[in-house]
Amino acid sequence: MEAIVNNIRLYYVQMGQGIPLLMVHGYPLDHSLWRAQMDGLSDIAQIIAPDLRGFGQSEASDGICTMVAYADDLAALLDALKIGRAVVCGLSMGGYIALAFWNKYASRVRGLILVDTRAGADAPVVRQGRLDMVELVRQHGSKPAAEAMLPRVLAESTRQTRPDLVELARTMMLRQSPAGIIGAQLGMAERPDSTPMLSTINVPTLAVFGDQDVITPAETEGRNLAVAIPDAKLVIIPNAGHLSNLEQPETFNVTVRKFLSTLEP
Ligand code: MLT
Repeated sequence: MEAIVNNIRLYYVQMGQGIPLLMVHGYPLDHSLWRAQMDGLSDIAQIIAPDLRGFGQSEASDGICTMVAYADDLAALLDALKIGRAVVCGLSMGGYIALAFWNKYASRVRGLILVDTRAGADAPVVRQGRLDMVELVRQHGSKPAAEAMLPRVLAESTRQTRPDLVELARTMMLRQSPAGIIGAQLGMAERPDSTPMLSTINVPTLAVFGDQDVITPAETEGRNLAVAIPDAKLVIIPNAGHLSNLEQPETFNVTVRKFLSTLEP
């Protein structure tokens, strides 16, 4: 399905019945990251899984895409679908966007699910790495971005035993457009520190992390979120890396199902 939001053609999947659940993918990925959740949770949730601007089948725009710009697209998509409030679930960059969404559209958030993500801004060295990657992608296309991410997103055990998931992640990354990758890297490099506003989150919040996530480690980033967000719950998924929903879909889905069942209808 497609909607025109903020002058961009945005692709999304909408399926299932129940509490609206907006699922925001990470970088450099697309909505198909959530395939196992669309299959496994659509009996209790109305899932809305968009391709962010510049990713998957959505149109790209030139230049930087700030986390707020992505959040604006998501709010406009909810408007187009006539959905007032949703649980917002975001993985990694999707989590940065979920926090930007909370900051600007708190009244539209019924709950938050923050997956393998962080609240802090980039350290200078990380920011410089993003700017270097932008140059590489300008010169060589999307491949350097996929090559940089692929070795780090899956747990060692997943890489050893699940060649199908390695291939799925590789093809998902390679099909993303240079414009989408550049826009996201520039946007992530500029994102502010969301830590000071974590204490304002007054909706039920679940943090889900893979125990082998080396990009956003559970023991630091997960615990930081769980401590700073009032009443947040942290679940650490065994044998999973940065893409915990993809690597351990059953455990992930059981965790999210339990969380959703605690929310008022
Ligand atoms: C992601 O998975 O979305 C990325 O790791 C986010 C980032 O580069 O900070």
